[in-house]
Amino acid sequence: MVVYLRGDLGAGKTTLVRALLRALGLAGRVKSPTYALLEQYRIGGLHFRHFDLYRFRDESEWEAAGFRDEFDGRNICLVEWPEKAQGLVPGADLEISFEMLPSGRTLTVCANTAVAEECLKLLQD
Ligand SMILES: Nc1ncnc2c1ncn2[C@@H]1O[C@H](COP(=O)(O)OP(=O)(O)OP(=O)(O)O)[C@@H](O)[C@H]1O
Ligand SMILES: [Mg+2]
Repeated sequence: MVVYLRGDLGAGKTTLVRALLRALGLAGRVKSPTYALLEQYRIGGLHFRHFDLYRFRDESEWEAAGFRDEFDGRNICLVEWPEKAQGLVPGADLEISFEMLPSGRTLTVCANTAVAEECLKLLQD
């Protein structure tokens, strides 16, 4: 599954990923992948890949870093700044857009595929 996290610097994308992983029981640190571009986590049978592509520049880096292989339909890929690697990152199942308010945030969630719609339904229940 592929989840895009869209929003300005400081909008709360990493904070949401951190909260999600903690809610699933992750005990260790959740670093922002600002420099490494990718951090990975395994929680039970779930394999998460957390990308921050803000500093992504070079197309050849995509293959060299093995990023293409990470979008294998098995990993849950949470992608900050997907627009920085447009044409390389596969399309999103779920897109979450963040808007900063003076206090808090507004999130708009868009499901593009059936599996994402299932997730949204579960969130609403
Ligand atoms: N819902 C929220 N309400 C208030 N403050 C928040 C919220 N979400 C995040 N913050 C605060 O905003 C700051 C930046 O958050 P975060 O690092 O998650 O942003 P980001 O979208 O990942 O930014 P970047 O694009 O630089 O990676 C943090 O100090 C965090 O505590
Ligand atoms: Mg971030």
